[in-house]
Amino acid sequence: MKNYFITFEGGEGSGKSTQIDLLNNFLTLRGVDVLCTREPGGTPSAEVIRDLVIKGDTNRWLPMTESLLMWASRYEHVEALIKPSLNAGKWVICDRFYHSTYAYQGVGHDLGLESMKSIKRLVIGDIRPDLVFLLDIDPIKGIKRTKNRSSNEDRFENMDLTFHSDLRDAFLMLSKEEADRFVVIDAELDIREISKIISEEVLNRFTF
Ligand code: TMP
Repeated sequence: MKNYFITFEGGEGSGKSTQIDLLNNFLTLRGVDVLCTREPGGTPSAEVIRDLVIKGDTNRWLPMTESLLMWASRYEHVEALIKPSLNAGKWVICDRFYHSTYAYQGVGHDLGLESMKSIKRLVIGDIRPDLVFLLDIDPIKGIKRTKNRSSNEDRFENMDLTFHSDLRDAFLMLSKEEADRFVVIDAELDIREISKIISEEVLNRFTF
């Protein structure tokens, strides 16, 4: 059985974690060995970096420092967990990957897509997901959803609306750049409807 690397992307409150759980159940019931993980984070060392970047004051880091922390945590994650899991034949589902850095730091913080793409090549080489589900949502609605959560992981949620609108546009632009790899889904659809689109896409694209 071939194994695949699937990522989920989207703005705040787009419902990625719910859909990852549902896809994990769907695949596991079909006998697939799945690893679900997330970024920033995923390994003990990368989770330490996660705490540094997603908690605290919005101005805590200069944009380039913030991006380098994302790349550092990703390097740990790719080397210690993602590559070994793919090599062991597992399917890997990751909540965010480098497209988030392209959108949040490259466009949201204006560091530039080309500089983020150069760092990507240097740090993690040519690893990329086989399939990216982009859950697209109006940032005002997405952020409203996150306000119901009791979490202090709110550093990015607290950034201004222009930042969130820019990164939504960036994700949509990235989805057009790599149209064969991206599936864009309206995150305001019913949870079950989204889950059906995702599982059908996986069934159509991949062999089990
Ligand atoms: P999440 O677990 O709710 O998706 O939160 C992670 C936060 O980190 C989210 O606000 C997006 C942000 N982030 C970046 O800014 N750049 C990145 O490369 C990644 C992976 C996440």
